[in-house]
Amino acid sequence: MKNIKAFIFDLDGVLTDTAEYHFMAWKRLAEEEGISFTRQDNEQLRGISRRDSLKLLLKGRRLSEEKMQELMDRKNGYYREYIKAISEKDLLPKAADLLNDLKARHYKLALASGSKNAPQVIDRLGIASFFEVIVHGGSVEKTKPAPDLFLHAAEKLGVAPQFCVVVEDAKAGIDAAKSAGMATIGIGPPERVGAADLIYPSVADIRLGDVS
Ligand code: BG6
Ligand code: MG
Repeated sequence: MKNIKAFIFDLDGVLTDTAEYHFMAWKRLAEEEGISFTRQDNEQLRGISRRDSLKLLLKGRRLSEEKMQELMDRKNGYYREYIKAISEKDLLPKAADLLNDLKARHYKLALASGSKNAPQVIDRLGIASFFEVIVHGGSVEKTKPAPDLFLHAAEKLGVAPQFCVVVEDAKAGIDAAKSAGMATIGIGPPERVGAADLIYPSVADIRLGDVS
C-alpha cells in the first residue's frame, strides 16, 4: 500500500450494522416461502446484490421473472421497514472519528455500497457530508464482486485505482477491489476477508499509521 490518496468505504457491515437487517429481511421472506435459511447461509450473501442474494437463497429453484421480482420487492419492503429506525446512534463505534481523522489528513473519501438503499441509510446516519462521491447499487449494472462500482467511484473522485484503498467487510467486496487494482482493508474475521492487504476486527481498530 503506497501513496494512498483516497479511501473508498463500503457501508453495510463497515460503517453500520445493517448486515443484520438484511439478514432479518431475507429470513422473514424465506420463512414465508418455506425455505430454510440460516445465519450461516446469510454469510454468502454479504456484499452481493439483491438478485444474486435471492438466487443463492433459492438454492437452485427456478422461478419466473415475475415471481423473482415479487420476492425481491417483498424482501426490500421488510428491509426498508427495519432501516426506518436507523439514526446517528447506529454508526459503528469510532466510525465518525475515523472519517473526521481522514478528512483532517486530506484524504479524498467516497462511499461505494452495493445497496440501492444506501442513500437513505447514509442520510439517516448523518454522514453524507463526509463523502465527495457516493455510488450505490443503482449506479452501475454489475455490482460486487465485479470491479465496476469501485472503478466508478475512483473515476468520479479523479484518483487512479492504485492510489485508492477500499474498506470492506465482504469477500465479494475484497474481490471487487482487487480486480479494480486497489489496495484493501478487510473488516472482520480472516475466514471472510483474509485476502485483504490489512485486516482488522472493526473500523475502530484501523491504525492509519499502517496505511501510507
Ligand atoms: C450490500 C449488502 O451492501 O447491498 C447486501 O451487503 C445486499 O447484503 C446488497 O444484498 C444489496 O442491497 P439492496 O438494499 O439494494 O437490496
Ligand atoms: Mg458490506
